[in-house]
Amino acid sequence: MKKQCMNRVAVIGTGFVGSSYAFALMNQGIADELVLIDVNKEKAKGDVMDLNHGKVFAPKPMNIWHGDYQDCQDADLVVICAGANQKPGETRLDLVDKNINIFKTIVDSVMKSGFDGVFLVATNPVDILTYATWKFSGLPKERVIGSGTILDTARFRFLLSEYFQVAPTNVHAYIIGEHGDTELPVWSHAEIGSIPVEQILAQNNNYKKEDLENIFINVRDAAYQIIEKKGATYYGIAMGLVRITRAILHNENAILTVSAYLDGQYNEKNVYIGVPAVINRNGIREVMELKLNETEQQQFHHSVTVLKDILSRHFDEVK
Ligand SMILES: NC(=O)c1ccc[n+]([C@@H]2O[C@H](COP(=O)([O-])OP(=O)(O)OC[C@H]3O[C@@H](n4cnc5c(N)ncnc54)[C@H](O)[C@@H]3O)[C@@H](O)[C@H]2O)c1
Repeated sequence: MKKQCMNRVAVIGTGFVGSSYAFALMNQGIADELVLIDVNKEKAKGDVMDLNHGKVFAPKPMNIWHGDYQDCQDADLVVICAGANQKPGETRLDLVDKNINIFKTIVDSVMKSGFDGVFLVATNPVDILTYATWKFSGLPKERVIGSGTILDTARFRFLLSEYFQVAPTNVHAYIIGEHGDTELPVWSHAEIGSIPVEQILAQNNNYKKEDLENIFINVRDAAYQIIEKKGATYYGIAMGLVRITRAILHNENAILTVSAYLDGQYNEKNVYIGVPAVINRNGIREVMELKLNETEQQQFHHSVTVLKDILSRHFDEVK
């Protein structure tokens, strides 16, 4: 019999990112059931044992097991973290050929189970693989979400919070575009409390434009810095994925910067890219269209062009 009112999440790929996500999900008590799937079955089984040993300390019971694609049939959410990660010196876009083939197999297997929920993609290059998941699955575009710039936005808010000495939750600012080298900060809508950052800069000489430019560079290049130091990044994205999971499973209508399909918003079409969007139980309810200034619009368009260039090599309909 199908589960009653149980939230089931399936994680595919239990490497650094997938297992950190599972750990964070368990600690926040958001889901009732968690199934871990990996081509390396022993890794997934080991993670299940390890997580179960912490269950007694979790805020809420969660049934965790090592499973296979058939378990996706009753999943509300399938989170894909499988595939190659960046090695030092590699860009996210360098991973596309390896990971797109892996995704064809994974998404076909999930759909064969009869899955009818929401996909959340974390694997890089995330915008390209979210598009691929949408195409391979045949699901409506709003039920396929990429983690997009959720992590970049979180890094941005954290660094701005340090600079302006306020809590990150009081910083309202977005990174949009490709989760990668062409992403951009939306300075025209960055606010501390409700005060625009541009206004603070104009009124207070303690704050400088060059510092803000450096903050953005540190956001954009954060992954390279972390990979250089410890080989991979996973805690930040794991927390971001859990945040999106909560917005979905709790039907929150939360505004988060995710990779969403554009169908005319920002004057762009037929691409998944990082933008603020309203997330609820059905996936992406709507894309929030910020009024960008001219420079931001141009930078955003450049980011779209870079993604579309790669998409067009794999999908004929993208021009
Ligand atoms: N979106 C983001 O902000 C963000 C942040 C960090 C990492 N990432 C990306 O997440 C992905 C995973 O990174 P990681 O550090 O966890 O890598 P990892 O190598 O530690 O884990 C990848 C896992 O995928 C599994 N896998 C490979 N092929 C599979 C298949 N066909 N079916 C099932 N499982 C399969 C591997 O066995 C491994 O356990 C990478 O692409 C990385 O770039 C994204």
